[in-house]
Amino acid sequence: MKNITIAIDGFSSTGKSTIAKELATKLKYVYVDSGAMYRAVTLYAMQQNLISEDKIFIKDLIKVLKDIKLAFKFNVILGFAEIYLNGVNVETEIRNMKVSRLVSKVAEIPEVRKKLVEQQQEMGMNKGVVMDGRDIGTVVFPDAELKIFMTASAEKRAKRRFDEFMERGEQVTFAETLKNVEYRDHIDTTRKDSPLIKAEDAIEIDNSALTRKEQFEKVYKLAIEIIESV
Ligand code: CDP
Repeated sequence: MKNITIAIDGFSSTGKSTIAKELATKLKYVYVDSGAMYRAVTLYAMQQNLISEDKIFIKDLIKVLKDIKLAFKFNVILGFAEIYLNGVNVETEIRNMKVSRLVSKVAEIPEVRKKLVEQQQEMGMNKGVVMDGRDIGTVVFPDAELKIFMTASAEKRAKRRFDEFMERGEQVTFAETLKNVEYRDHIDTTRKDSPLIKAEDAIEIDNSALTRKEQFEKVYKLAIEIIESV
């Protein structure tokens, strides 16, 4: 069977990574979390004091982009690849609220996008990849054989993200989580470079009322139909 490229885009906390990981495992494909890359660049900017709640030193950040090396290494216990920033595993740290509050500002910078998109395209060169993000079906892999666009209500998404924060013991409120989800939706959909939009040929799935199993079955069926037809 021929390998295909699967692009999963959508708003924050729609469960894109859950479905992408499940699909990649089942199809024995590589899973790439493109959001983790934007988060890791944001973490680097924080470590270098180039970004805070009220300031971002864009020119300086662009200058040090060459010093940022991102890599994914498969963790056999977890069953997916974790992200490394200059050799350090930052998989957990990049998910915190502080990074979540700043990441969309960093993701607006065209130079950052160019660097990360190039690396993403390289990772998907041989197909057999499931990548999730905001611009995968529109910019990174416009020729992807299967494009999914995930949506769900902001409340539902914030509830899912809040539960994740609670599981990790992060001190945040539901209101703060909802605010962050809405704030990132706004920046991600209105930015100039590669805004979050549904690709014309993407299949939209609203998973507000779907269980994890139902959503997986739906997308897996679509993937198999395409794999069998190419
Ligand atoms: O997990 P969640 O969906 O909340 O976010 P994420 O996928 O980890 O992405 C974090 C942020 O990175 C998004 O809010 C976007 O600002 C940015 N991003 C992007 O611009 N393009 C992508 N392909 C992936 C993420």
